[in-house]
Parts: sequence; structure tokens; C-alpha cells
Amino acid sequence: MRFTFVTLFPQLVEGYFSASILGRAIEEEKLSIDFRNPREYTKDKFNRVDAPMIGGGAGMLMTPQPLMDTLDTLKATSPEAHIIFLTPVAKRFTQNDAKRLAKKRHIVLVSGRYEGIDERVIEAQADEVFSIGDYILTGGELASMVLCDAISRNVEGVLGNSESLQVESFEAPLLEAPSFTKPTVYEENAVVSEFLKGNHSKITDLKRGLALCKTKYFRPDLYKKGITDEK
Ligand code: ADE
Repeated sequence: MRFTFVTLFPQLVEGYFSASILGRAIEEEKLSIDFRNPREYTKDKFNRVDAPMIGGGAGMLMTPQPLMDTLDTLKATSPEAHIIFLTPVAKRFTQNDAKRLAKKRHIVLVSGRYEGIDERVIEAQADEVFSIGDYILTGGELASMVLCDAISRNVEGVLGNSESLQVESFEAPLLEAPSFTKPTVYEENAVVSEFLKGNHSKITDLKRGLALCKTKYFRPDLYKKGITDEK
């Protein structure tokens, strides 16, 4: 699967995908990542890619031409490119989106900077628009990276056997139960004793109870949904 980051600051993104699970997936050619910088497409004689908002409002917006040309050029060579814009003014990205988008062949993630992007570009080019949460970041790069990471781990062959997709938070839809590793006692704190006894059906029941407690405490909205979905 291919990801293209459209960003004025590719250096913010590059490092994240060079190590660990995603780095390995890129080496094994399960994933590929490339970059397009709209500044390289600007026709402005001073190389500008932004301008003040029309109609008032503080700050600068990314202008249409550099982004339109970047995306049109991309689509000319990759007609299956699925173009996603990251902005706080959008529906929230979820695990279901990650699973659905993992089936695409080429995803283009467009990061806004400054106060955002001229709306006409989004109207003309977006297949989808996502926010990653109710807060404002200084740019869309982090949000693009979040999507790329969450989608990638659902791509066939990206996770090794040891990094299973089987029981993960938000699929249940409950938060995951607490997990433990060695040592069994750390500074007088023991792991839940039942986990050590090897009775797997009992452990499963216990984990479900703990997952319900965590979900009820941290995410009452998900808890309510889980209870309703089960009926
Ligand atoms: N750009 C700035 N803030 C954002 C957010 N919360 N989600 C997606 N893109 C953003």
C-alpha cells in the first residue's frame, strides 16, 4: 500500500516511519511512503504558498494553486489515489475508518498549515476529510501521521505474528483490559493472581470484567454503546 504525504514540512514526518514496525514494513515493501511539497509547485514569483484570509480573520491560509497542482499531478499518475484532508473541521477518525481505508491501494494525506486551506481546494479534491480530535494542532502533519499509522497496522502483512490485531481496544467496542509482563511481583505489586493460574476461560471472564470497568470509568460513551450493541 502506498501513502503520499502532501506537506510543506516533510521533515516533520519522515523520521517516524523509518523505525520499528512501520520501518520494517517499508523495508519489506508492504508499505511505501513518499512526499509532495506544495512549495515545489507554486507559481508565485516569491515562492509563496499562503495569503491572508479574504473577508477578515486572523492569519494566513494555504492558497489554491500550489495544492491543486500538486494533487492534479499526483492523480494524473495514480488515478486510484484516495485523497484525505486533515482539519479540525471534520468528522472524527475512528478504528472503523482505519480498517476500511486499509483496503485502498494509494492514500494521499494532505496536511494544512497556517490557519488552514482555502475551502475550494477541499471541495474540489477531497474524497474524505478527517479530524483526529477536538483540539487544534499547529498543522495537519501529526494528524496525517496518526491516520497513516492506524491504517497501516491493518494492512495485510504489516504486523508480525507477535503484534496481533486480534483483540484491540475499539473493536469490541470496549477498551482493552490491563496487561502485565515479568516480573510477577514488582516492588511489592503483584500482577492479578488469576492471570498466573492458566485457567483461560476464567482469565477471559476476568479480562472482560476489567475491560468493562476501564471503559465505564474512562469512556462512559463507549460503555453505553457497548451495552446497547450487545442487546
Ligand atoms: N489540524 C489541526 N488540528 C487538527 C485536528 N485536530 N485534526 C486534524 N487535523 C488538524
